Amino acid sequence: MSNVIDRDKYKVRQAFAQASVGYDDFAHLQRTVANGVLKKNAITSLHGNVLDIGCGTGFLTQQLQNIGGYQQLMALDIAVPMLQKARQRLNKPVSYVCGDAEHLPFQSASLDSIFSGLALQWCQHLPTALQDFRRALKPGGRLVFTTFGAETLRELKQAWRGVDQCRHVNDFYTPQQLQRLLLNDHWRTVAVDSQLFRPHYASVMTLMRELKGIGAQSVSSGRKQALTTKTDMQAMMNAYPRDASMDGVFASFEIIWVTAEAHQ
Ligand SMILES: C[S@@+](CC[C@H](N)C(=O)[O-])C[C@H]1O[C@@H](n2cnc3c(N)ncnc32)[C@H](O)[C@@H]1O
Repeated sequence: MSNVIDRDKYKVRQAFAQASVGYDDFAHLQRTVANGVLKKNAITSLHGNVLDIGCGTGFLTQQLQNIGGYQQLMALDIAVPMLQKARQRLNKPVSYVCGDAEHLPFQSASLDSIFSGLALQWCQHLPTALQDFRRALKPGGRLVFTTFGAETLRELKQAWRGVDQCRHVNDFYTPQQLQRLLLNDHWRTVAVDSQLFRPHYASVMTLMRELKGIGAQSVSSGRKQALTTKTDMQAMMNAYPRDASMDGVFASFEIIWVTAEAHQ
C-alpha cells in the first residue's frame, strides 16, 4: 500500500453526518474497543489541554471527563451533527470544534495531549496528519489513538474479489507500517499493539447494515463508481466465507492501539 490513502473527505463527512442519528445503536464494536481503551489505562496519561479528534457522539470524550486529570477538554469532529450529539451527551464543559484532523485549527505547541478513537483511518494522508499533530503538541506531548488495521473486513474484501475487481472496502495500515510512519516522523516512545475482533452477525446483510449505521461504508473516492446492482450484492453475499456448521457470519476487525510522545 502506498502512503497516500485515497479518501473523499466530503463523502466521509456526509456519511458520518447521516450516521449520527442512529450511531449509538449500531456502534457495538466501537463500544468494545472503547472499553478496551479504558482497561489499558492509556488515556489516564492524557493531561493538560486534551484534544479528542473524531469525537463522534462523545462516548469516549465522556470517559475522558470521568477520568479527569486534565485542564481543558476539546472535542473535534468533521461532521457537525456528530458534535451536536456529543453536546447532548456531555454535561461538563467541553470546547467543541468542527474541523478536519488533517488541518488542525490550533497553534503550534499549544496542546498537551491528543486522543483519537477509531477516526484516523478516514484521513486522506495519515503521515501529514501525524506531522500536524506533532506541530500542535508541545514537546513531550502525548498521542494516544486507536485505528483499524489491514485485516479489517478481510472476509468482505475476499467476497467482493469473487464478484469484480473494484475496490469496495477501504485499505488500512498494518501495525508495522504505522510503527514505521511514527518512527520516521521522529515520534518517541512509540508503542503499537493490535488485536483481532471477530464479532458474529446474523447475516451478511446485518453486517452491511451495521457498517452503514456507523457511517463506515466504503468512502474511498477510488471505489466502484457505478451503482452496485442487486445481482452484484447477492453474488457477494453468496461468496462471503462462512462456517457451514453455524448460522450467520463472522467479520474481522483488526484494532491497532498507538501511544507516542511528540519530539520537535
Ligand atoms: C467511528 S466514529 C468514532 C467516534 C468516537 N471516537 C468513538 O470512539 O465512538 C469516527 C468519527 O470520526 C469523524 N471523522 C472522520 N474523518 C474525520 C476527519 N478528517 N477529521 C475529524 N473527524 C473525522 C467522523 O465524523 C466520526 O464522528
